[in-house]
Amino acid sequence: MFTIKDKVALVTGAGSGIGLHYVKEMFRNGLRAATIADIDPSKGDQALKEIAQEFGSNKAIFVKTDVTVQKEVEAAFKKTIEAFKNLDIVINNAGILNDDIWEKQIAININGTVYGCLLAWDYLQKYRSGNEGVIVNIASITGLTSFMSIPVYAATKHAIVGLSKSMGVKEHYDRTKIRVLTICPGVTDTPLISDFVTSYCLPAFEATYKVDLPRWPKQKPEVVAKGLIQALTTGTNGSFWVVNNSKIQNIPHLPEVLELPK
Ligand SMILES: NC(=O)c1ccc[n+]([C@@H]2O[C@H](COP(=O)([O-])OP(=O)(O)OC[C@H]3O[C@@H](n4cnc5c(N)ncnc54)[C@H](O)[C@@H]3O)[C@@H](O)[C@H]2O)c1
Repeated sequence: MFTIKDKVALVTGAGSGIGLHYVKEMFRNGLRAATIADIDPSKGDQALKEIAQEFGSNKAIFVKTDVTVQKEVEAAFKKTIEAFKNLDIVINNAGILNDDIWEKQIAININGTVYGCLLAWDYLQKYRSGNEGVIVNIASITGLTSFMSIPVYAATKHAIVGLSKSMGVKEHYDRTKIRVLTICPGVTDTPLISDFVTSYCLPAFEATYKVDLPRWPKQKPEVVAKGLIQALTTGTNGSFWVVNNSKIQNIPHLPEVLELPK
């Protein structure tokens, strides 16, 4: 069984929100060290202070990273190895919800996750401390079902589901010993939700906002972080973890819609 104890993690977008909760919950479960790769230095500083206060000093580093810039993501991986020698867990968490700036949203949510996955594929084989590395991609319930007011955001999360599904097959695991897991949080109380205004919808879909997202129950980020721990310690390669309405549900394999011809 995979244990978090003494492992090293890199988490994008972990300066605040659910990402910071992931880092703290992993430290509570014995994580040795973490890299916070976030675009916002003030959030990064605050995150480091909170981590030092609760878990002691020199447990984490902040690397200013815009996940849409491949070189910056790579620098975060390099600095992790310089600081901690190993890398065992990569969580591609950075994301925004704003269909009004959909090209930027696609760049952050999809390109950022692809950069993180490709670098993790290399670094987790070279620098893991145990016999297995883990990639955790953060999708959403919007990656599994339709959301009429935010179709582009939903498309970015469907893309992450597709990426994880194809990377998380047995053939890849057998060669690399990298486990690919996916978390699909439901609506969770963070600035991504509390700062959301209807103008973040594209004008064509804005009218549907009030009968769409607000009908979903809101949960606390702590419960999503608990879901991460369950996924890391018990999740099989290619498994999906829906954390919605404060309940954690494991889907070992998303069903295939098509079958290969016999
Ligand atoms: N909050 C929800 O309801 C919810 C539900 C499902 C999925 N998610 C997903 O969970 C992840 C985290 O969401 P959250 O609610 O914590 O959001 P948040 O807005 O609270 O935090 C996002 C973090 O990402 C950072 N960030 C933004 N752009 C970045 C970039 N280009 N490069 C690096 N860092 C960047 C921000 O500085 C911030 O610290 C996202 O991928 C989001 O889509 C959130």
